Amino acid sequence: MSVNAYQPVLDPASSGRMFWFDKHDTRVLFGDIRDESWELCDGRRFDVKPDMEMDYRDLPFPDGTFRMVVLDPPHLRHVGENAYMAKKYGALDPETWQEDLRLMFRECFRVLKPYGVLIFKWNEVQIPLSKILKLCEEKPLFGNKQPKQTGTHWIVFMKAGTEEQ
Ligand SMILES: C[S@@+](CC[C@H](N)C(=O)[O-])C[C@H]1O[C@@H](n2cnc3c(N)ncnc32)[C@H](O)[C@@H]1O
Repeated sequence: MSVNAYQPVLDPASSGRMFWFDKHDTRVLFGDIRDESWELCDGRRFDVKPDMEMDYRDLPFPDGTFRMVVLDPPHLRHVGENAYMAKKYGALDPETWQEDLRLMFRECFRVLKPYGVLIFKWNEVQIPLSKILKLCEEKPLFGNKQPKQTGTHWIVFMKAGTEEQ
């Protein structure tokens, strides 16, 4: 599968694209393992409509395809009363989640160009970040070290260019 020249960024688990300033940013290839749409309790629709269905454990791209990968996998292992959250954001497989996330990191780094950037989002409500980082072979650079105490934002930009630069 080839990538559009104007899509240097991959979001392989994009769900409803809630954190994107532009949900149709043409620099981004939006993926997810599912393609579905349903009605929320307040009557609005919630769409998971990826540009392409994909599995982040086995990505359909050659090595070194993207300049940036944005990674926001499900973070809930126990869903229960959070079933609505699981529908919106997915859930980890209680049996295989560690191997799934290990493969996810490996695949996402495989499809990055050398010195490409991986942006990883995690919520520690059920599993601490320290456990997740052990599943990744690369060393992280920086992040928010006090996520519960600060009102600080990190915003990611990308300088414009053409694919061949
Ligand atoms: C936390 S949500 C992403 C939310 C998104 N960043 C946003 O801004 O709305 C995680 C998504 O990962 C997807 N997912 C789960 N397993 C996956 C897999 N193996 N490959 C690709 N996507 C997967 C789920 O379907 C879910 O939509």
